[in-house]
Amino acid sequence: MKKAILSVTVLLLLVNINLLSQKNTPVDESKIESIIQELTLEEKVKLCHAQSKFSSHGVARLGIPEIWMSDGPHGVRAEIEWDSWKHAGWTNDSCTAFPALTCLAATFNPQISHKYGVAIGEEARYRKKDILLGPGVNIYRTPLNGRNFEYMGEDPYLASVMAVPYIKGVQQNGVAACVKHYVLNNQEVWRNHINVKLSDRALYEIYLPAFKASVQEGEVWSVMGAYNKYNNQWCCHNEVLVKNILKGDWAFDGVLVTDWGATHDTKEAALNGLDIEMGTGTDGLSSSSNNAYDNYYLANPFLALLKSGEIDESVVDDKVRRILRLMYRTNMNTSRPIGKMASQDHFDVAREVAQEGVVLLKNKKGFFPIDPQTTKTIAVIGENATRMMTIGGGSSELKTVHEISPLQGLQKRFINANIVHAMGYASGPSVYSREIPSKLDADSLKQAAIQIAQDADMVLFVGGLNKNHYQDCENGDRKHYHLPFGQDELLKEIIAVNTNVGVILISGNAVAMPWISDVKAVMQAWYLGSEGGNALADLISGDVNPSGKLPFTFPVSLKDNGAHSFGEISYPGDGVHQEYKEDILVGYRWHDTKKIKPLFEFGYGLSYTTFDITEASSNQAIYSKEDIIKVKVTVKNTGKKDGAEVVQVYVHDEESSVLRPQKELKSFEKVRLKAGESKTIELEIKATNLSFYDEVNKNWKLEEGKYKLMVGLSSRDIREVVDIHIKQ
Ligand code: GLC
Repeated sequence: MKKAILSVTVLLLLVNINLLSQKNTPVDESKIESIIQELTLEEKVKLCHAQSKFSSHGVARLGIPEIWMSDGPHGVRAEIEWDSWKHAGWTNDSCTAFPALTCLAATFNPQISHKYGVAIGEEARYRKKDILLGPGVNIYRTPLNGRNFEYMGEDPYLASVMAVPYIKGVQQNGVAACVKHYVLNNQEVWRNHINVKLSDRALYEIYLPAFKASVQEGEVWSVMGAYNKYNNQWCCHNEVLVKNILKGDWAFDGVLVTDWGATHDTKEAALNGLDIEMGTGTDGLSSSSNNAYDNYYLANPFLALLKSGEIDESVVDDKVRRILRLMYRTNMNTSRPIGKMASQDHFDVAREVAQEGVVLLKNKKGFFPIDPQTTKTIAVIGENATRMMTIGGGSSELKTVHEISPLQGLQKRFINANIVHAMGYASGPSVYSREIPSKLDADSLKQAAIQIAQDADMVLFVGGLNKNHYQDCENGDRKHYHLPFGQDELLKEIIAVNTNVGVILISGNAVAMPWISDVKAVMQAWYLGSEGGNALADLISGDVNPSGKLPFTFPVSLKDNGAHSFGEISYPGDGVHQEYKEDILVGYRWHDTKKIKPLFEFGYGLSYTTFDITEASSNQAIYSKEDIIKVKVTVKNTGKKDGAEVVQVYVHDEESSVLRPQKELKSFEKVRLKAGESKTIELEIKATNLSFYDEVNKNWKLEEGKYKLMVGLSSRDIREVVDIHIKQ
């Protein structure tokens, strides 16, 4: 008997391991078809819209479950009430807060993105959520966009490579990822209605790639349509974006859900491929009782058009087919894992992503790392040293089990130092869609900070932005490019009494740094989540060597940014229309083509050691379009500390018939090397990835001729160049 039990157990284990390794177990389509035959027209229509704030109907009669959705990209949001945006007040929904996706992108490490996806997917599964509303991959076009912190930067290739493993990781838990916001939601000002116009090249070469990769490589099971319009039609039921591209060219077989309140027309929504309507009757974050769920566009009005025959039943059947397919992948998948939540290994993943994503921007005279045994007096100044950053920011807000602040992390690690803290400035409470100034007296806060600064051996200024309205927050953009709340002035006065200053910016966006030449060091630390303070202490103490790289450009001033170079119509638009006049030249593509030196460039990041790359070569001089271009290069850790470097390969088409950026990222690899160690690596680029979108023939085109492969440690620190030719 014992033998029999043992063999069954082993068999079950093997089956489970096999299922876990299989990402997308194929769905039995015949089961879907037989269910469709069973359903009434009313039941089919109900599947296509919300029944509550974050769930859509099932079919109780047939035992078909409801679909439960939850924000967000950085962790599983606290339970929301059935019919409002308020928290439901549960006591068992505190989660792991993972770092924001800008931090994940800054790791330039696809492997850690998969770990992130698996962990957050386990938490969504444990919370019984069938769709996790993330990742966000909207391209960073302007430093003012309130939601850049939720996304993966300015480069379509980086965003694509980092989004795919996250999606795979989430979905191997039997939870659907939901890549958002499809597409051109690149600002929060007038997000609910702005009509975006841009060239086909910019659409296909810059704004679509991360969504395309999510669908075709990530096999994402759901996509969220954006609030705005594209070419005069709402994104959520846009014929070109949804019917022609998403479900046509890309053959997306999953479910298109709306952003909350982004549906505007029954017939268009029905005929242009919207599958589930959510949040109608809300303007994003305030409820209205006018739109009871039966009044949704895809509810009774849709049923009426079906019953009248004006819309054929095959239209609703396609939606139902997709919804049932998502169910068989999630809540009707009887073999999906059980998930877990707020486990130590999840906090460890959060800490690891934070360690790898922080970017060391300046480090004069070895200001960092600080000896963890130091007995010196360290003045930690700034509201962001203690401010919770997992709350606020809009729908990506989290109720986390714990959030270690930078000050706590430093106090824990530097036990012999005399750490003193002053807020220095105050920003006010984090209230959605409203800016409420602090009641604290700004001058006394400043004086107290200056006092501790002048008595200290060194200053760590922990500032940046926060999750308040008009900062890094949904439903509003920043009003200017400078640090807010008087930080620039405060820093100036601190430096006047103590020049031994290191700045740690907690933010999700670039900022102006008028004080950059007066401080010794700068660390770009993102919204780092539950383990943020510990990760920062790991890096500041030298326990961990920084290896993050900027996923977006830091211009010296806003006028140097492409989106801000063509007047109001380019940003924020005229209130109705907006034109992306910088076209394909977004981010470093703009700076390098227009020869505008940035403050810090895309792909830039320092280490406590140094690296060099030499002997770049390609396996062939001439390639055809079917080829994989291989670039071999030797990387050496030329310093005294172990560390990691990101080797980046940018490409320029030397003989193109159309305007092309001075360089475009087409491959990268993160390499860990011990002090003094060398390693030869080989990076690959599909020759077809050198194509541009040909607006005349409405297709991708790879032109013959000479191309430069620029191998470097950032988009401007190019160390080796290899010439190749493309021959058809
Ligand atoms: C919000 C956001 C979206 C979020 C959804 C549900 O308005 O735009 O990202 O997932 O509504 O909260």
